[in-house]
Amino acid sequence: MRILIIGSGGREHALAWKLGQSPEKPEIFIAPGNGGTALEGTNLPIAVLEAGPVLDIVREKKIDLVIPGPELPLVNGVADACRKTKTPCFGPLAAAARLEGSKVFAKEILREAQVPTANFAVFSDFAEAKKYLRALSAPPVIKADGLASGKGVVVSKDMDEALSALRSMLVDRDFGQAGGRVIIEEALKGEELSLLAFCAQGRIIPMPSAQDHKAAHDGDRGPNTGGMGAYSPAPLLPEKDLESLAERVLKPVLALMEKRGSPFSGILYAGLMLTDTGPRVLEFNVRFGDPECQPLLMRLESDLLPILLACAEGRLQDVPAPIWSPETALCVVMAARGYPGLYSKGMDVAGLKEAEALFPGKVKVFQAGTLCRDGQIKAEGGRILGVTALGAGLPEARERAYAALKEIRLPDSFYRSDIGNKGLSHIQS
Ligand code: AMP
Ligand code: GLY
Repeated sequence: MRILIIGSGGREHALAWKLGQSPEKPEIFIAPGNGGTALEGTNLPIAVLEAGPVLDIVREKKIDLVIPGPELPLVNGVADACRKTKTPCFGPLAAAARLEGSKVFAKEILREAQVPTANFAVFSDFAEAKKYLRALSAPPVIKADGLASGKGVVVSKDMDEALSALRSMLVDRDFGQAGGRVIIEEALKGEELSLLAFCAQGRIIPMPSAQDHKAAHDGDRGPNTGGMGAYSPAPLLPEKDLESLAERVLKPVLALMEKRGSPFSGILYAGLMLTDTGPRVLEFNVRFGDPECQPLLMRLESDLLPILLACAEGRLQDVPAPIWSPETALCVVMAARGYPGLYSKGMDVAGLKEAEALFPGKVKVFQAGTLCRDGQIKAEGGRILGVTALGAGLPEARERAYAALKEIRLPDSFYRSDIGNKGLSHIQS
C-alpha cells in the first residue's frame, strides 16, 4: 500500500504519523511535507495544489491512496482527477468541496436543508451592500465568498469596520476573485465547537468533539489565524449529544448534496456556534481541521488507514466504528513572531526530543512550518509546530502540553497560554 499525503502542516504530520502505525505498513509519501513528515515517510518537494502534478506522482510512485490534507486541492478537483484514473482519493469531488470553497453556496445549502445558521444576505455591488449595512441595528460579520486562507472573515466591532471590510473586498479587491461576492451575516454569540465526521454513502461516523482557538492571542484577542490550539473532547458538549448534533446539522446537508447529484464523501467538518437558542453552523470545511486533527488522531486507537480507504472506495458502511481513547488530548501551537501577518523565518528549532521524552508516549510534537536542513530543523512557516499531549482529563493534558512546550527552544516565536481554559471553566462550573 503506497499513500500520498498532500500538504505541509501539523495536520499532515499527524496523518503521516498515524498512518505509519498501521499494521498494513504503508509506504508514505508527503508532498511537499515538512521537517516532521520527513521522519514518517518520504517528502516530495513538489507543491501539488492542482490535479496535474498529483497524477504525475500517482503514476510515478504507483500510489494506491491519495489523501489531500488542505481544502485547495479538493476545491481544484484533485479527487475528480483521481476518480478518472481509478485511484482512491479520500475527500470530496470538486462539486461537493464547494461546501468549503464557496461560503455563499454553503449558506444556500444550509438554508435549503433547514439547518440553523446565522441570518445573512449576499452582495456583489458595494452600493447595495452599503445600503443594507446602514439598515442593520448591530455590527455584522463580513465574509468573502471564496477561499482566503482564513483571512476573509471580519467580525466587525462597529459599522465603520464593517464598511471598510466591504470596501476592501468589493472595491479594492484585496481578496481577488474570492471577495467578488460577500456575505453580510448576523453576528452570533456563544462558544464555538468543531464537529467532524467521516461521511460517505449516507453513513456518518462523528469524531469526538473538539474546540479550536482561532484568535492569535490570549483571551481570543488579536487577528484570526488558522488555529492556535485545540483540544478534544470539548467539555462544552456532553458526549451523549454528539450523535444527535450530527443528525441535526450534518445529515440534512449530506442528504441535500446527494439529492442535487453531488454526493459528499470524506470529512465534513461543521464549525458551530452554540448559542442560547441552540447550535448554529458558522461554516463547513471538507477536510480535517488543523490543529483539531492532532488531538483527534492522538485519541484514535483504531487503525486510520481502513477508514480512509473505505471512505475513498465508497464502502464506509463496512467499517467498524472507530475506538477513541477516553483520555483528553490538547494541542498548543507555537507560531513565528508576527503571524498571521509578516513573520520571522529561519530560526533554529531545538528541544523536540526532550519535549516528547518528558511524558513518554503521551506527548507528540507535530511539526508544521519547518524544514530540515543538514540535520537541523529550521522554522519556515507561520505556525511552526504544535505540542499535543494526552492526559486523564483536560487539566492533566493541559499541564503536560505546557510542560513539554517549555522544553522547546525556538526564538522569535509565541504561543497562547490559555488553551483549555474555556473547557476548564465548564468542568469547574
Ligand atoms: P468562519 O471561517 O466562517 O468559521 O469564520 C471564522 C471565525 O469567525 C469563526 O470561527 C468565528 O469565530 C467567527 N465568526 C464567523 N461567523 C460568525 C458569526 N455569524 N457570528 C460570530 N462570529 C462569527
Ligand atoms: N482549525 C480550523 C481549520 O482547520 O479550518
